[in-house]
Amino acid sequence: MTSFVWVVLPYAALTCFIVGLFWRYRYDKFGWTSRSSQMYENRLLAWGSPLFHFGILGVLLGHIVGLVVPETWTTRLGLSEEGYHLMAVTTGSVFGLMTVVGLLLLIYRRRSTPSVFRVTTRMDKAMYVMLGAVIAMGMYNSLVVQLLGGGHDYRADVAVWFRSVFWFQPDAALMQSAPLSFQIHALLAMGLFALWPFTRLVHVFSAPVGYLARPYIVYRSRDAHGSARAPRRGWEKIGS
Ligand code: HEM
Repeated sequence: MTSFVWVVLPYAALTCFIVGLFWRYRYDKFGWTSRSSQMYENRLLAWGSPLFHFGILGVLLGHIVGLVVPETWTTRLGLSEEGYHLMAVTTGSVFGLMTVVGLLLLIYRRRSTPSVFRVTTRMDKAMYVMLGAVIAMGMYNSLVVQLLGGGHDYRADVAVWFRSVFWFQPDAALMQSAPLSFQIHALLAMGLFALWPFTRLVHVFSAPVGYLARPYIVYRSRDAHGSARAPRRGWEKIGS
């Protein structure tokens, strides 16, 4: 059972994620979109969307530091377990709360704005339930286990298991020593990754990041003399 949950399921979820993304791109290239509903409602979206997106970006960075970077590296850099714990709990709580408030606003908006609710598919609802469950369990771990409880050094088990999956040497026993809430959080995350390619979450891989640095688009009128305006006498001002 332990091997099934911590060896078979992670690879099943990863396969579903990678093959699913290829399949979706191949067969539904034009459906690869966030299916924005900004044109239906903008007031709540203007708050909910940045809160959620900046919050989840912070959470992602926190996961990279906590799961991908080995504890020995940060110890060698002079960061003690207590120091790491303090940093993780404070930044995790701030970004986590931003994510939760943003997500609640987005869900409220989706339910309370009839035009937005009408364009909400069953897959969207499944995605929101899964995403909400992963985030809720993450917050439970951060606030209840790590902040209010005694805390658990997850970099000694959960993080090592996480990396072992990507080295193709999965060590299921490591997850057995983790608190149940950490196990549930990781399991739900696998479910989210398996569902990902079939939802609007695919837009994560086509975020228009290049937009920030792209050159301006310069609009020019066609031929000034071909327009309805009668040509002026003499020189025309450049750029008119
Ligand atoms: C297998 C994958 C994952 C593992 C092993 C994992 C593990 C963890 C751990 C150990 C914590 C506690 C961090 C701390 O308080 O120091 C945490 C918190 C959290 N996780 Fe995950 N996580 C995974 C995937 C995800 C995903 C996919 C999401 C969201 C889409 C997510 C959202 C959160 C949130 C919102 C928190 C609370 C805020 C924070 O500490 O950053 N997690 N996770």
